[in-house]
Amino acid sequence: MTKPLVFITRQIATDATARLQEVADVEVWPQEDPPPLSVLLDKISHVDGIITMLTDPINSEVIKAASPKLKVISQMAVGFDNIDVARATERKIPVGHTPGVLTETTADFAWALILAAARRVVEADRQVRKGIWKPWGPDVLTGFDVYGAILGIIGFGRIGQAVARRAKGFNMRIIYHSRQRKPDAEQEFGASYVSLEDIFRFSDILSLHLNYTPAAYHLVNRERLSLMKPSAILVNTSRGAVVDSEALVWALQNKVIAAAALDVFDPEPIPPNHPLLFMENVVLTPHIASASRETRRRMAFMAVDNVVAALAGKPIPYCVNPEVYQ
Ligand code: DGY
Repeated sequence: MTKPLVFITRQIATDATARLQEVADVEVWPQEDPPPLSVLLDKISHVDGIITMLTDPINSEVIKAASPKLKVISQMAVGFDNIDVARATERKIPVGHTPGVLTETTADFAWALILAAARRVVEADRQVRKGIWKPWGPDVLTGFDVYGAILGIIGFGRIGQAVARRAKGFNMRIIYHSRQRKPDAEQEFGASYVSLEDIFRFSDILSLHLNYTPAAYHLVNRERLSLMKPSAILVNTSRGAVVDSEALVWALQNKVIAAAALDVFDPEPIPPNHPLLFMENVVLTPHIASASRETRRRMAFMAVDNVVAALAGKPIPYCVNPEVYQ
């Protein structure tokens, strides 16, 4: 009997692929760069399942091209804003993702960015490598204290709360804003709910952890940046489009805020010659907040679990559109 066919848009952990090969024939896109749209359109037209990455535009055109036998779109990420879920739902295709497993790893990385930006770690490293080791001096590479500062968190879900948990060790005051209040988390972290305006106004460090929806587009804009303290630091590990990057450039150039650390950008990769690339007070990383070896392996297994369930005719365990089963 022929096995179902699954396409994976990038190489994932070999043991996760092997698990999938027990139940399916598997084609893997062999390159580090994402497959072009033409390949996605071709593959989705004849496979039974597809494992996608957040760099794959699974838009309405791609979903329209899907084979009638496509049983699952399984995203190896918690975010799925690259997928037109509404179109997939219309076609009764379950969409999977990988919630939970990357929470702590992503929170660790948000903290790496907080500390790097506040204490100018990357800028200092660049100076040392360039042969600039300024003698110890009262003002050399002075940054901002993290200990005791006010940490603002927008989006107080799993990752936002994991960031807050770490902040306790830094004796920080935590304020948050999210769509819904979280009384249990308020109690656990001593966190105070504040309005969107107040979180910009009062945060020393503002870290973004909201799920991306069109409503979050350019939530961080010129008007809100203008409310921030001149010593404030903006950290983004959510999605690039949450921040209006032109407004951010303006805010940094005009010392409206002190620094920024961005793991995500809109578009990715950041265009060459973008002004942020030339600013010393900006830390930039290429969307790697969940990139620990163990977490990426767990994400791969979750993505595979979703496909294995779908191929067996069962509901997928980590589903973003469970209404397809109604
Ligand atoms: C996600 O999972 O959505 C992160 O952005 C990448 O791991």
